[in-house]
Amino acid sequence: MNDPPLLDVLNGKKVLRRPVWFMRQAGRYLPEYREVRARAGSFLNLCYAPDLAAEVTLQPLARFDLDAAILFADILVVPQAMGLGLAFEEGEGPVVEKISGLERVGALRPLDEAKEVGLICETVKAAKERLAANVALIGFCGAPWTVASYMIGGGGESGREVARAVAAEGPPWFDLLMERLIDASVTYLVRQIDAGVDVVQIFDSWAGDLPGYLQEKIIALPIGRIVKGLRDQRPGIPVIVFARGAGAGHRRIGEATKAECLGVETSMPLDWARDQLAGSHVIQGNLDPLLVECGGDALTRGIEQVAAALPRDRHIFNLGHGMRPGTPPEHVDLVIKHLRKLDG
Ligand code: CP3
Repeated sequence: MNDPPLLDVLNGKKVLRRPVWFMRQAGRYLPEYREVRARAGSFLNLCYAPDLAAEVTLQPLARFDLDAAILFADILVVPQAMGLGLAFEEGEGPVVEKISGLERVGALRPLDEAKEVGLICETVKAAKERLAANVALIGFCGAPWTVASYMIGGGGESGREVARAVAAEGPPWFDLLMERLIDASVTYLVRQIDAGVDVVQIFDSWAGDLPGYLQEKIIALPIGRIVKGLRDQRPGIPVIVFARGAGAGHRRIGEATKAECLGVETSMPLDWARDQLAGSHVIQGNLDPLLVECGGDALTRGIEQVAAALPRDRHIFNLGHGMRPGTPPEHVDLVIKHLRKLDG
């Protein structure tokens, strides 16, 4: 049986087709997403309605020649499943109930029995059943630091600064929170794998908030422990680590986590990634999402520059961050078609 090209690349095999998918490929830029979200009533209702969430997971595949679907959910489902309040306010982004102190962190619920996790695994099963055999299904979680940043600061710019100050000070409750999130992430990803995901991505979206000297302690080692936990329990499932904004730190993160693939942000020069990372890791990224929104010659040049920088069997074509809500869907189609033409 032929594996999806995305899995072939992650497993070190040669491919004829460079795999491509996009972070936030399901979302507000698609009118059919806006329609289902309106039917669900709210973003969180949509996350916890397996039939609708599976439909939204598959929407981009119906339009575009993509190599992967990504589970439709959110990284902040985990703090909610651990017992914290969560709200998505229209136009404001997420608001998480803040936590601090040993007592409250110690009282967070483990994930094993959480109903939220059960519902998301139903989405995985429903999406997997309807997905073509040559398309990979990606599961995900937030990395401990990014999720902790929301749990400590509550969300927003100023919340991120509060979390950064706590991380630098390093009180015992912060270390305990990181421990709890490592355990929760392993539990959550194992459940997703058992429900049918083929690959997992760990999103450390706020990695770039930390000073370089803390990257090892707060990014590389915790993610490394999640990867080891998965390898021990479910060997053979490839891992993509996206430590956005880690810069030269991606090298240490790659070495410490032993993930198969490193996602890199838009600001990462791909010749550096090729020389420093691609010998040991597949590289994912890093077309500027703004170019996909704008289109035109700058987009064409952007696609060509990204594709030329890396060989197709060491690369997963993607954006350097999520798709912007104002992106015209035709531009997304154009990116894939142009890439296929370049790769012959
Ligand atoms: O298509 C996909 O990529 C799968 C679904 C997915 C969502 N969120 C859906 C979503 C994934 C993988 C995520 C991960 C996520 N969530 C991250 C890591 C990736 C990143 O973007 O850095 C983070 C930091 C979050 C937290 C989060 N969720 C924020 C900051 C926001 C608000 C920002 C925004 O775009 O509005 C969300 C909401 C969210 N998550 C939306 C979607 C489609 C928009 C909600 C809506 O429909 O209004």
